[in-house]
Amino acid sequence: MTETAPKSTISQNPDIRLLGKMLGDVIRAYGGDKLFRQTEYIRSTSVDRYRGVAGADSSDRGLGALSLDDTLDFVRGFMLFSLLANLAEDRQGVAKEEGASFEEALIRLRSEGVDDHTLMELLSNSLIVPVLTAHPTEVRRKSIIDHKNRIAALMAMRDAGRDVTPDGDNVDDAIYRQIALLWQTRPLRNEKLFVADEIENARSYMQQVFLTALPKLYMRWEKALGHRPPGFVRLGTWIGGDRDGNPFVNAETLRYAMARDGGTAIRHYLEQIHILGAEISISSRNSDTPAAVMELAERSGDTAPSRADEPYRRAMSGIYARLCATHVALVGDQPPRPSALAGEAYATPDDLRADLVTLANGLAAGGGGALSTGGALGRLIRAVEIFGFHLATLDLRQNSVVHERVVAELMKAAGVEADYLALDEDARVKLLLAELSHNRPLADEWHDYSEETAKELAIVRAAAWAQKHYGAGAITTYNISQTESVSDMLEVYVMAKQAGMYRVAEDGTPSATIMSVPLFETIADLQAAPETMKAFFALEPMRALAQARGHQEVMIGYSDSNKDGGYITSTWELYQASSALAPVFADVGVSMQLFHGRGGAVGRGGGSAFGAIKAQPKDTVQGRIRITEQGEVIAAKYGTVDNAVTSLETMASATMLATLSPDKIDAGDEARFRAAMSELSASAFRHYRGLVYETDGFRQFFRQMTPINEIATLKIGSRPASRKASDAIEDLRAIPWVFSWAQARVMLPGWYGTGQALDDFADKGLLKAMASEWSYFQTILANMEMVLAKSDMGIASHYAGLVEDQAMAGTLFGQIKGSWQKAHDSLLDATGQAHLLDANPALNNSIQLRLPYIEPLNLLQIELMKRHRAGEADPRIGEGIQLTINAIATALRNSG
Ligand code: PGA
Repeated sequence: MTETAPKSTISQNPDIRLLGKMLGDVIRAYGGDKLFRQTEYIRSTSVDRYRGVAGADSSDRGLGALSLDDTLDFVRGFMLFSLLANLAEDRQGVAKEEGASFEEALIRLRSEGVDDHTLMELLSNSLIVPVLTAHPTEVRRKSIIDHKNRIAALMAMRDAGRDVTPDGDNVDDAIYRQIALLWQTRPLRNEKLFVADEIENARSYMQQVFLTALPKLYMRWEKALGHRPPGFVRLGTWIGGDRDGNPFVNAETLRYAMARDGGTAIRHYLEQIHILGAEISISSRNSDTPAAVMELAERSGDTAPSRADEPYRRAMSGIYARLCATHVALVGDQPPRPSALAGEAYATPDDLRADLVTLANGLAAGGGGALSTGGALGRLIRAVEIFGFHLATLDLRQNSVVHERVVAELMKAAGVEADYLALDEDARVKLLLAELSHNRPLADEWHDYSEETAKELAIVRAAAWAQKHYGAGAITTYNISQTESVSDMLEVYVMAKQAGMYRVAEDGTPSATIMSVPLFETIADLQAAPETMKAFFALEPMRALAQARGHQEVMIGYSDSNKDGGYITSTWELYQASSALAPVFADVGVSMQLFHGRGGAVGRGGGSAFGAIKAQPKDTVQGRIRITEQGEVIAAKYGTVDNAVTSLETMASATMLATLSPDKIDAGDEARFRAAMSELSASAFRHYRGLVYETDGFRQFFRQMTPINEIATLKIGSRPASRKASDAIEDLRAIPWVFSWAQARVMLPGWYGTGQALDDFADKGLLKAMASEWSYFQTILANMEMVLAKSDMGIASHYAGLVEDQAMAGTLFGQIKGSWQKAHDSLLDATGQAHLLDANPALNNSIQLRLPYIEPLNLLQIELMKRHRAGEADPRIGEGIQLTINAIATALRNSG
């Protein structure tokens, strides 16, 4: 059913062939000859059918012959093949995009006349942050990902022409061993994940990847720029602070996250100092030691006679001792290699940095500056600048309805007469502003608050504690889910005030150590966003706060707006809201910082980050951007130092280009294109809402057709699958919504409504012009094209067969299928291609390679779901369904 480029063009990358062959050998060696033959039969018949090989049999797929035990093994084998294929592709840089390197971006900007001064000025005001979140879409266990990374490292040795590893193992044997271990590793988690597991998981990326990748990148950038750029790319996290719909996140998890992440940063610095101490063996007999270094050496307390003439080593002993004391102060215990010297803990990362800079200046002073070129010490100084004592900035997030209840309870307990919850917006704002006009707290330490209020108060207090101990950069932002109005933002400042994070000076000027950030995530809230922000800035204290800070962040939610209004409407409203927000910010002289809440799947704003940033409306990037990185995207983009370097650089280049060299588009065209988008969006919205929210029985159709219930039981995240006990689509979280449509190969959130809208649109010439000239529209189509290529209405029809009311299923699925065809045909018409993905052969190849592996998994999943729903109690059935979900998600690459 999926109509893509001619099959003969599909080529197999040699790494996939090698790894696939080894996997086959492992299956034969460990699973037995019968399993190997069954697997091979299913694989080859499926591949032949997909390639259109004459005589390929579609009636006998070999699935019926599998026992339940065989099924579990077979699915595991296909899952591992996909995993290895992903690995091979990532190595070949399928994800690398043209023009995305920093050097390429610089060449382009310089050719357009952007001078170094402008560039450095931009970077001084820039902030680019990937924010790691624990959104539950990563189906693979960490042990599986670790094996995959080990294989990638071994493959890199192979590329370098090495037969033997540094430890003396044969490289091919070592790869085989890793695959054999993979085969014998359980792919599903036995236990539910806890918040602490999620913190550890992200921390391992920070430790193994970010701590190395970022300082390394800065070195490269410094060379390319010819100047030392400020720390404009940093790291963020939500894990341990995002409690929207997750009752397990609290003050404890926040403190735990701070201690784990902060401890990791400090231990990294200790290790680097230790290495540098061995290396910088300069003797004062052979070199003039600057006074500042001498002074550090004297203060160190290091009196070892063997180092008496080695001022740098002595100074570093002192720094090491002080860092150990810092570890004790912040983490609660000694680091693994404690110092024998007594030292006073550093009060701030800046103090540590100052000592390191003293050493660097000392090294640079002699010998014509030969030792001044960064090196390990330069990278360490950079690391301290960007990671501080906290490693990643931890955000808080909670739902606005919770804040409303908490503030209402605080007011009631404090004797405020009005019933806060009963007030209208104006009255609420007035009351909140009054509360924010002085420093007298509302919270009473001795009052017995409800569990919810006590918990919320505890977390803001923990945040204030973290800022004090780990530095101001440890926590800077408080995101508010489902922001509808200004009062939602003020409530957060009222809560912050209870912990001293919002204060008023004697002259009435407010200051805050945390920023209240609205998250606009429904279509209506996005449409109202410019007015909401205008009203916010119209409040004098809020304007003063934002102006003093120089910037204000607004978060926009891709998934929920998509679930609310469908693909094209969500994209368009995000674009419109961003464009309309820019002048609101310009009017008050405050820089706008957009925080993009997106996931990996297209229905959740996924797709190329480079393309997405570059396609942002003019004047909306302004050098400042934060983007969530979630689930499977984290391993794909930041799984290794090399991947992370590419991904971070892509973000930085796209941000520079979007700010200084936005796509130029003729004003007349822009007006025509925008008008067309409004029409397309309105039409798509009607179709999407008509199906999803206005069709009787749709909810039941969706629940029976897709594995939504089975997805809810996957052990992939600490938070419950839904915010409320309701089966309404409105209340379902966006992740399981997108995830379940992907499994059923419909991928409805990535395209539904758009097909009808494009088909109905009268001026097809205009659509073609938009597709060739407007990068924003190109991105919309490119993402939809990928989704269409991964969807398959033939397979989806089998899922529709799971619905009890077959008459209803026939009608609704018929509608979906018709719409898919329209999306497909209109897309080809607008782009002038003969087949999907003609213009993107690498992606086409990647998808084509996987399709024959996914179909048998889908068919097995359907079979198992039927048995499960018929009440068969064998636990292997439930396990089989979960394994197929895992395998399909791995093969599709973007699960939720
Ligand atoms: P949320 O995220 O449900 O945590 O708001 C939505 C998403 O990222 O899909």
